[in-house]
Amino acid sequence: RLISWTPEMASKEGYPHFMLKEIHEQPFAIGSTLAGINEKEFDNVVNLLLNSRKILIVGAGTSYHAGLVGDYLLTTVLGLDTHAVISSEYKRYVNAVNDNDTVIAISQSGETIDTLVAVRALKERGAKVIAISNVIDSAIPRESNYVLYTRAGPEIGVAATKTFTTQLVIMTILTLRAGIIMGKLDANEYRSIMDSLNKLPGLLQNIITRTEGRVKALSEYMSRRQNAYYLGRGIGVPLSMEGALKLKEIAYIHAEAYPAGESKHGPIALVEEGYPVVFSILDDDNVDPLLGNVMEMKARDAYTIGFVPEKYIGKFKELLNAVLELPNVDYRIAPIIYIVPMQLLAYYTAVARGYDPDKPRNLAKTVTVE
Ligand code: AGP
Repeated sequence: RLISWTPEMASKEGYPHFMLKEIHEQPFAIGSTLAGINEKEFDNVVNLLLNSRKILIVGAGTSYHAGLVGDYLLTTVLGLDTHAVISSEYKRYVNAVNDNDTVIAISQSGETIDTLVAVRALKERGAKVIAISNVIDSAIPRESNYVLYTRAGPEIGVAATKTFTTQLVIMTILTLRAGIIMGKLDANEYRSIMDSLNKLPGLLQNIITRTEGRVKALSEYMSRRQNAYYLGRGIGVPLSMEGALKLKEIAYIHAEAYPAGESKHGPIALVEEGYPVVFSILDDDNVDPLLGNVMEMKARDAYTIGFVPEKYIGKFKELLNAVLELPNVDYRIAPIIYIVPMQLLAYYTAVARGYDPDKPRNLAKTVTVE
């Protein structure tokens, strides 16, 4: 059963800001989303995806980043022809879409006009639309053929936090169910990732408790800087993009994300002593190339910050000015975990700079003009 809520029902419950409350609510939001999964609904959607010629994922801002993670999972893990597209740039694909294709529209509010316009135009071309949203019966779900709801509860802070991690949970489950049908994942792999997903609420609770103090200390450094890079490889790229967006939108620090391999093709020119570079190191086949990228930054006297799985701490420690130790988890679900301390970093940096993270300047929670 869907949990109904109105924004008025939300209160800060003792937290200084909604954003901090919502970061802390992620274990519960993920638990509710997992508990609310209706296998039949998911299997209908998976069937559609498996019978599609091409899959487009449209979204804006954080929802676009969830789309990029989804794109990585569907393309790289399953080999499906998938493209994540910024909603307002959907025109790039209009001529390439027909009734053999499927669009996944991600929007926590379900009301973002750019995403709604993209849905309408792509539907017009014959594509079927699957909405992923946090708001029951909002505009995008209403105009879609299928809807999968996240059950994050009301998100009041302008910066998306728990709606992002729950969107990733939905994308991961779609991938797992499609993967098992396609024979791309064996039963053991499926069970082991599913098991990790089910343990996420407890694991995240533990990570928040363990890392919050360290992240807060690190925010003191960050709050005095004007720029930062967020670097990663593979599925760590959209994760970095989301980490950078959080810092940019609430702490007003110019934060840019790049695929780490690309950093030496231009961005490294800006790096000088003390320049913060945040590395997302996951347990995948990018660890050694990333080690090289950390060395390059260290050689330019950057202030290197690493989000590192326990098993690679020894490999990276000497090269990092600040280390955040994270559990060894399957890289396919790592973004759901790694983003949480990054959200906290943005939050505490904004607070240290004297800004209200719930109401960043020039931004609205839902953008209803094109
Ligand atoms: C996220 O922190 C932003 N405030 C913003 O990018 C947001 O994700 C975007 O406007 C999309 O919103 P939606 O998910 O409601 O469509």
